Amino acid sequence: MRRKLAAGNWKMNGLSASVSEVTALTSTHVAPKVDVLLCPPATLISGLATAAAGHPLAIGGQDCHTAMSGAHTGDISAEQLRDAGATAVLVGHSERRTDHSEDDAQIRQKAEAAQAAALTAVICIGETLSQRENGATLDVVKTQLDGSTPDNATGANTVIAYEPVWAIGTGIVPTLDQIGEVHSFIRAELVARFGEEGHAIRILYGGSVKPANAADIFGVEDVDGALVGGASLKAADFSPIITALENA
Ligand code: 13P
Repeated sequence: MRRKLAAGNWKMNGLSASVSEVTALTSTHVAPKVDVLLCPPATLISGLATAAAGHPLAIGGQDCHTAMSGAHTGDISAEQLRDAGATAVLVGHSERRTDHSEDDAQIRQKAEAAQAAALTAVICIGETLSQRENGATLDVVKTQLDGSTPDNATGANTVIAYEPVWAIGTGIVPTLDQIGEVHSFIRAELVARFGEEGHAIRILYGGSVKPANAADIFGVEDVDGALVGGASLKAADFSPIITALENA
């Protein structure tokens, strides 16, 4: 039985005052029936982890280097994220793939670094609009999934986030059938590669998840939760999404 996961990605948003959003979340979700994870910018990991201490709210990073330390100015390692209070890290978000030209091999190494530092790797995959229009969605998803996921992936150390690039930050959401098609495809691929363990790996949907559409999306088979961008910044928006997942 997979425990559902509501994850928030703050991207390059948030200042120290944003800690109040964590306090608001922990006071309204004292004992959530689902896992809750917030991934703030690296500057806020320590502060949010301190604010969430003792509450069932996990804190994660948004990226990590493939190495644990060394001459990599401006980068951050999985071990440093762990040291700051993170228990998870996003790898291969489409904005990293685009802005920093990250490829599947590099993302897989990042996921391995995350696992070596005892962080859960949330591996992000998803097609662009032109890839979807060309009928290449499942091919792209398969290539990214195969290439970015380490061989030792388990339900404990790996989460897959399906985020169609064209749905991120656009307010456009795939149909429930489109979401279901890709999630069941990913599930079948995970089971084909990892056997029984493939059933334990959670698959999140991401892209314009809002309080108004969350319940419908969470009703789709093999959707084990969401990776939420804009609507995770404010507790007032993220809280009803967590509640919708609890009720799914
Ligand atoms: P939005 O929810 O803002 O569309 O962002 C989704 C996302 O990229 C989460 O990683």
